[in-house]
Amino acid sequence: MSSDLFQNPLRRLRKKGDRRPTVPVKELRERDRRRMLRHFLELEDSDRLLRFGSVLPDEQITNYVNGINFSRDMVFGVYNRVFRLVAVGHLAFAPRDESSTVTEKERVAEFGVSVSRSARGLGVGSRLFERAAIHCRNSDVDTLYMHCLSTNKTMMHIAKKAGMEIHRDYGEADAYLKLLPADPSSVLQEALHEQFAVLDYTFKANKRIAVKWFGKLIRRK
Ligand SMILES: CC(C)(COP(=O)(O)OP(=O)(O)OC[C@H]1O[C@@H](n2cnc3c(N)ncnc32)[C@H](O)[C@@H]1OP(=O)(O)O)[C@@H](O)C(=O)NCCC(=O)NCCS
Repeated sequence: MSSDLFQNPLRRLRKKGDRRPTVPVKELRERDRRRMLRHFLELEDSDRLLRFGSVLPDEQITNYVNGINFSRDMVFGVYNRVFRLVAVGHLAFAPRDESSTVTEKERVAEFGVSVSRSARGLGVGSRLFERAAIHCRNSDVDTLYMHCLSTNKTMMHIAKKAGMEIHRDYGEADAYLKLLPADPSSVLQEALHEQFAVLDYTFKANKRIAVKWFGKLIRRK
């Protein structure tokens, strides 16, 4: 795996000694829906099971992607060097269960994530999770849920590392994280990260257009 998979114009700002590539996590919008579908359809059956709790057929995955409401939920993604969407994190918001003793806030959030096999082990899943958590803080949500199979060792590791409270039940695990309230630094951190990701996205998108254009030019000669 090339360590410059996520190569970006600000890579020199990376901390010394940090061997993992910088991972720009960007908010996804309507225009990314087609690429999201491609990402999910490329997931193998075993990954679909881990991500959705069952091996969803293509048709249901298509319905899921078409049904994502970008004005209610947040979707984050990571594009690689060649402008391919290699990871998607879906942060879905829902009203708090009236009987809940976990939070007094109006809404709670649930996070689901998938990373393409080619981009695993580089910290992408963890970065998406961190981004989702900081977005919750800044949206007055103090409880972030995650539902996964308890055999999902990688996700359990990420959840434990983040300090999540984990409840195991019949092979499934419900984990939740209590979050601190927003403060000026969490707001600034999210805004800066998004600015950086937008810059990275624009750079990669333009590079891809240029490569295509040159390719056409060369073929014409
Ligand atoms: C789970 C998933 C999102 C992780 O993505 P990723 O980008 O590879 O994750 P990261 O690189 O950020 O972190 C992986 C961590 O798990 C650790 N890990 C990997 N395999 C492990 C295993 N078998 N047991 C324990 N820890 C493991 C890594 O060492 C790393 O830890 P570190 O950051 O402390 O070094 C990805 O594997 C995936 O998409 N799986 C299929 C879908 C899924 O399971 N979704 C989660 C349910 S919502």
